[in-house]
Amino acid sequence: NEFYAVVGHPINHSKSPRIHSLFASQTGEPVEYTAVQAPLDDFAATVRRFFEGGGKGLNVTVPFKEQAWELAECFAARAEKAGAANTLYQNSAGQLVADNTDGYGLVRDLATNHGVQLQGARVLVLGAGGAVRGVLGPLLEQQPASLTIANRTVAKAQALAALFADEAGTATLSACGFNEPDQPFDVIINGTSASLQGDLPPLCANVIAAGTVVYDMMYSLQTTTFNQWALDNGAVRVFDGLGMLVEQAAESFRVWRGVRPETAPVIDALRND
Ligand code: ATR
Repeated sequence: NEFYAVVGHPINHSKSPRIHSLFASQTGEPVEYTAVQAPLDDFAATVRRFFEGGGKGLNVTVPFKEQAWELAECFAARAEKAGAANTLYQNSAGQLVADNTDGYGLVRDLATNHGVQLQGARVLVLGAGGAVRGVLGPLLEQQPASLTIANRTVAKAQALAALFADEAGTATLSACGFNEPDQPFDVIINGTSASLQGDLPPLCANVIAAGTVVYDMMYSLQTTTFNQWALDNGAVRVFDGLGMLVEQAAESFRVWRGVRPETAPVIDALRND
């Protein structure tokens, strides 16, 4: 078998080993996938040991995605500006390559699994941390009419808007605070970690109309705090990040193995765990 793992801290609740073992049995690929907890101050050594020991590929999760990107010697094109990596492997020259499949996973879950039209849409993205930075490129590639980045710390949203300005194409890319937008959006994506503290970004409820699609990049068994707020304020279509989680994993699997697993049965299996 060939060895893969997800590295994070903590890592015991990670769904990735389950997802990748389902992919392995579905595709017949000789993939053995485990979870590795890296010490908070020793991520780099954990990565080095894994590849020196013959490991083929790593997924990286909280809080190491930025460090993974810093550590890499080469980048997949879509990871160059992401500033965060969730997928690592070595190229034939033995260099560490960073990829980021999160944005691909988000777009694929929205567009393919949920049939959401992103082209021409007015999109509101909440948050300006690593999670959001990792998905802005793939979102802009879908050519929304506008993409508004709202964040508690407005300067961080402004910095991201400036960084991605040359990828905006015809989209209007802008930054603001949470309380500024007061018109309906077609798609609202929550990429803040506010829900982890049971907090809500202080948005004006006017951003939601009956047709608004609301997507929380977080995944939890219960409706997330943010999605509940959206439902309470008239949203009809709300989704959590389970599909994104499985889609980013499938894309990592394809990058490593050259084989794309079916995601629908795996999403169903996890939903029913
Ligand atoms: P991640 O990798 O999850 O993106 P991060 O880089 O620490 O983690 O970013 C966390 C994001 O959630 C930031 O946009 C943060 O806002 P600030 O940039 O103002 O810090 C946002 N966030 C965290 N806690 C929040 C809260 N209680 N309310 C609103 N936004 C919050």
